[in-house]
Amino acid sequence: MTAANSTHIQSFWRQTGEKRTYDKLNENLEVDVLVAGAGIAGIASAYLLAEKGFKVALLEAREIMSGTTGFTTAKLTAQHNLIYDELINRYGQDMAKLYYQANMEGIALARELAEKHNIDADLEEQDAFVFTQDAKNRDKVKKEAEAYEKLGIEGAFIENLPLNIDVEAAVMMRNQAQFHPVKFLNGLLKELETKGAKIFEHSKLMEAEIDGEKVLGKTDAGHTVTCRHLVQATHLPIDEREENFYSANLNPESSYALAVKTDKEFPDGVYINADLPKRTIRKMKADGEDYILVGGESHPTGDGLSSEKRYKELKTYADELHGNKEVAYQWSSHDYISADRIPFIGQLHPDEQGIYTVTGFGKWGLASALTGGKLLSDIISGKEDNPYQELFSPQREIKEMEHVEPKEENDENYPDSSSAASRPEDLQENQGAVMKVGGEDVGAYKDKGGSVHLLDLTCTHLGCGVQWNDGDCTWDCPCHGSRFGATGEVIEGPAVEDLKKVNE
Ligand SMILES: Cc1cc2nc3c(=O)[nH]c(=O)nc-3n(C[C@H](O)[C@H](O)[C@H](O)COP(=O)(O)OP(=O)(O)OC[C@H]3O[C@@H](n4cnc5c(N)ncnc54)[C@H](O)[C@@H]3O)c2cc1C
Ligand code: FES
Repeated sequence: MTAANSTHIQSFWRQTGEKRTYDKLNENLEVDVLVAGAGIAGIASAYLLAEKGFKVALLEAREIMSGTTGFTTAKLTAQHNLIYDELINRYGQDMAKLYYQANMEGIALARELAEKHNIDADLEEQDAFVFTQDAKNRDKVKKEAEAYEKLGIEGAFIENLPLNIDVEAAVMMRNQAQFHPVKFLNGLLKELETKGAKIFEHSKLMEAEIDGEKVLGKTDAGHTVTCRHLVQATHLPIDEREENFYSANLNPESSYALAVKTDKEFPDGVYINADLPKRTIRKMKADGEDYILVGGESHPTGDGLSSEKRYKELKTYADELHGNKEVAYQWSSHDYISADRIPFIGQLHPDEQGIYTVTGFGKWGLASALTGGKLLSDIISGKEDNPYQELFSPQREIKEMEHVEPKEENDENYPDSSSAASRPEDLQENQGAVMKVGGEDVGAYKDKGGSVHLLDLTCTHLGCGVQWNDGDCTWDCPCHGSRFGATGEVIEGPAVEDLKKVNE
């Protein structure tokens, strides 16, 4: 049904930021704190802990910033679409205010660190806007503006935007920002190195075991990192318990983005809509060229519908919005949304000291990961007066969200992602499909050299069936968001093992 996709996924941030590389861990190690996962949550936590004098090791399963952080939109903002009216209704005004403050402190910390370490991270102040083009959503936007007033958030309800689109209504939040996450985090990595932290790539944490006052972290190469504290900044934690709290309370959602070259001036501001399909917009620069980023097309990860079509929809939108000189980069990623839209940052399991999680950012983790890193560094150093401990506690009572934001469900306008081919030999190059081989459903992929790879569709995390993603050429799991390359290698956890090969 869909043609083979020849476009390689390339994130603007990873392509236009310096690539720092680190060795694999090849020995046992003893440190004060082991941080697993080198996205913004892991790097910020490691940096803030090292700054407090802890001996830190940072372990990344693949490459530094190869997870969601390298494939983001990079707005640094406390404006998380429409959330404050909902937070007030659910948790009250004080808690909603605290949530705003936590994110504003994250933005302030980014500014402070960029300045302190002279990091050229393209960090710019911007106002942030949520808009609707649907009369049905006007009231929600109005209520959000009223919530800003109640909370003392600087902003306004407006009815026009400086964009080439007609809107019904919009709510603006002042003093927000945008940045280049790879440039920013490279700056923190350099500081980490200066502070003597040990950083490793291609070193996956497989197990964590409590041994008296110590935690033993075991890697995929069989080495042990002995530490007093372990921070799992790995999205879903690696040691989920039988009650599956995290898997049950964190839903993976995917989104797509294009970086489009432009030779026309684009207005200031960062923008997102409150409608479906989701659209998010900002501008940026690289090597003297101007770009606009157009993103959106959110959906539950692994829904099996055509992501190639999703990229096309974004391209059409970019054309209509601003004209389109060239789509220079396209990429997708996913993040975990907690059941109450508030991240989980703190002790991983209620009865197990020394192991912590920082996850559930709901596609708004860039400011809150910095606040989260600060919170963890306070908890680990025994400082008990961090104002955000209760707000983010994984042990809090969760009040389910009311879905103020429209939720994307499977959409009949999108074709199935799998090819119509019913035999492996009928696939085009770089195309995949679920098909019957020898009476069994298997995942078949024909690579660019024409070789066919047959895979067991059983996700190696907890056994759900993976789905072909035609835009990115990956196998995605609808249950907890594991993603596998076209030939079955894990590219995003919680799965740690590759898909099994099937012999014809
Ligand atoms: C398309 C998109 C756009 C977004 N736009 C914005 C935005 O504009 N503003 C905003 O605030 N937020 C945005 N977000 C959300 C934000 O990017 C994320 O919340 C944030 O990057 C998450 O960072 P992280 O460190 O938790 O995860 P990641 O960056 O995914 O890092 C986790 C790391 O852990 C590693 N890992 C996993 N398992 C192991 C293991 N066992 N051992 C060692 N390492 C392991 C992974 O390889 C990965 O590198 C967006 C998200 C998406 C999907
Ligand atoms: S990610 Fe959990 S079963 Fe696939």
